[in-house]
Amino acid sequence: MLSKRKPLYRFPLIPVSALIICLFFLVLYHYHAKPDSQFHGLSKTSSTSSHTPRCSGQALALGEKFVSYAPHSGFSNQLSEFKNAVLIVGILNRTLVVPPILDHHAVALGSCPKFRIVDPKDVRMSVWDHVIEVIQSRSIDLACIKDTKLQSSVSERLKQCGSLLAGVHGSIGKCIYAVNEDCRTTVWTYHKYGHEDDKLDSFQADEQLKQKKKISYVRRWKDVFKTLGPGSEVESASLLVFGSLFSAAYKGSELHVDIHESHQDQRFLSLMKKIKRIPFVLEIMIAGKQFVKETIKAPFLCAQLRLLDGQFKNHQKATFHGLRQKIESMRKEGLLPIHIFIMTDLPGDNWTGTYLGDLISDKRNYKVHFLKENDKLVRRAAVKLMAVGHGQRFISNSDTSISKRYCSSQRLPDLLLYVEQTVCSCASLGFIGTPGSTIAENIELMRKIGSSSQYC
Ligand SMILES: *[C@@H]1O[C@H](CO)[C@@H](O)[C@H](O)[C@H]1NC(C)=O
Ligand SMILES: *[C@@H]1O[C@H](CO)[C@@H](O)[C@H](O)[C@H]1NC(C)=O
Repeated sequence: MLSKRKPLYRFPLIPVSALIICLFFLVLYHYHAKPDSQFHGLSKTSSTSSHTPRCSGQALALGEKFVSYAPHSGFSNQLSEFKNAVLIVGILNRTLVVPPILDHHAVALGSCPKFRIVDPKDVRMSVWDHVIEVIQSRSIDLACIKDTKLQSSVSERLKQCGSLLAGVHGSIGKCIYAVNEDCRTTVWTYHKYGHEDDKLDSFQADEQLKQKKKISYVRRWKDVFKTLGPGSEVESASLLVFGSLFSAAYKGSELHVDIHESHQDQRFLSLMKKIKRIPFVLEIMIAGKQFVKETIKAPFLCAQLRLLDGQFKNHQKATFHGLRQKIESMRKEGLLPIHIFIMTDLPGDNWTGTYLGDLISDKRNYKVHFLKENDKLVRRAAVKLMAVGHGQRFISNSDTSISKRYCSSQRLPDLLLYVEQTVCSCASLGFIGTPGSTIAENIELMRKIGSSSQYC
């Protein structure tokens, strides 16, 4: 759903939330640095000798238990991992710490379960490396912390946070349990009484593949509840960190997580239903609705034209053709002028000479609407979104002085794409999307579900 070209600029909220999550965990899980280091906060995290990782008493006293995981690959993969994580925390009655959304393919896993893949520990490590890189290079301006000592200590602590969360030191007492099962060995299942636990999965590497790729593993089912839940040795760990939670059907089997609807638990079933389609937050929905009611003010057609990114560049003609046909047929019905809402990655300056330019200049027959990144409506929604701070929270602690000392002028998240999708979900004269675009798919889904509600 994110633009493949520059996903990060599309959603600068993400690195900010990454920082918040990391700071949050710094508060809970911190290194106990021995005072033998003269260079305050500059010693490398990899030199484990000078650091003894341990949980703060506060983390344990909290009583609340957490789960996190390592996002990787493209946005859709990451979304699939997120959904699996939600199911797992539902089963384990833990709180999910949502990792940041990473750049498109910034972290790769490998082809699971067929070939060599990256170990859970290493995936977690690369995720945090990337997160720190993003925080330092693009999002939080570390330079605006005047105190250089604090600056280097913040970036050092970010590194420590990462290596602790990645389970580089393995599991640590009641503090962190690093899950090292991956898709080579394990298919996570959920059957309340675990009666199918330890069963061999139907997909196993065949001999030929084993020899060719030098892999040797046996894939077994493991019950999430039985292995990691109450009564297991993992139960007491405050934070459970998984590697990849990506899964998809492969050769009649699930790659890594096979938790499905046949389960009888009502609470679990309703959770399953809720994550099928994850709606945008209210601030985005309201902005879209407002644009429809106050600016377009008429029945309209929505056109989503993906013209520049990757493969779509080669299909511009076909993309315009679909829209042209639809509009011609509407013209024949004679409902003029036709109101059209356009969302596209082609910058407004480049519309001249395309079909969009034609539509704009024919003011008698068409009324063309569109939104821009800097429109008041979009910016206002972003400000509101930041103010509400969905799901972001701090636990008060002396360490929060770090967060207070960051510059207060945060960059606003770019919500344009999401507000546009919301507008299109309400287009009563129809929707023309770009074939093969995940954005178009999402709008279709919103239209299907939204049309039955009172939303538009
Ligand atoms: C889930 O955990 C919370 C504590 O974090 C506890 O209060 C609650 O009773 C638990 N619910 C179930 C269904 O076990
Ligand atoms: C858009 O227009 C600008 C200036 O007119 C030009 O430099 C740029 O290459 C154009 N972009 C595309 C995608 O056509």
